[in-house]
Amino acid sequence: MQRTLILLKPDAVQKSVMGDILARFERKGLKVVGLKMLQMDQALCDDHYSEHVTKGFYKFMSAFMMSGPIVAAAIEGHDAIKVVRTMCGATNPADALPGTIRGDYAKNIDNNIIHSSDSEESAAKEVARFFKENELFAYSRSLVD
Ligand code: CMP
Repeated sequence: MQRTLILLKPDAVQKSVMGDILARFERKGLKVVGLKMLQMDQALCDDHYSEHVTKGFYKFMSAFMMSGPIVAAAIEGHDAIKVVRTMCGATNPADALPGTIRGDYAKNIDNNIIHSSDSEESAAKEVARFFKENELFAYSRSLVD
């Protein structure tokens, strides 16, 4: 069982596709165990994207990430990190297959709708960055399973 973090970026909120994207993960059988809307500030953005802060695209990308509310979700399930990344599609929407989240909704690499953790190490760090322990929930789905 793994946990991973997704961020629905400002373009996902503006396109009113938050519910659709979360529903895709739910339909796949993954479990949402943490969920919140927030607006990133520079410190949170720099921390989250620390490996990109020196890159040429960072200033523009961070301005976009801070431009409006985002939704953070902690998602749990078998092989959740890989399954979620596969469902997101390629980082560059031009390469993302139809049927993937970016393939269906994302405009370009700057506005690519969703972020997801890329490894167990970054998933653990990223979930902890956005959620306190008491904001993460363990629950059974015995009422529907
Ligand atoms: P994300 O998965 O959030 O992680 C880093 C982000 O940087 C990536 O999605 C893109 O939105 C953004 N980005 C912008 N330009 C580039 C680029 N040239 N190469 C990679 N990522 C980029």
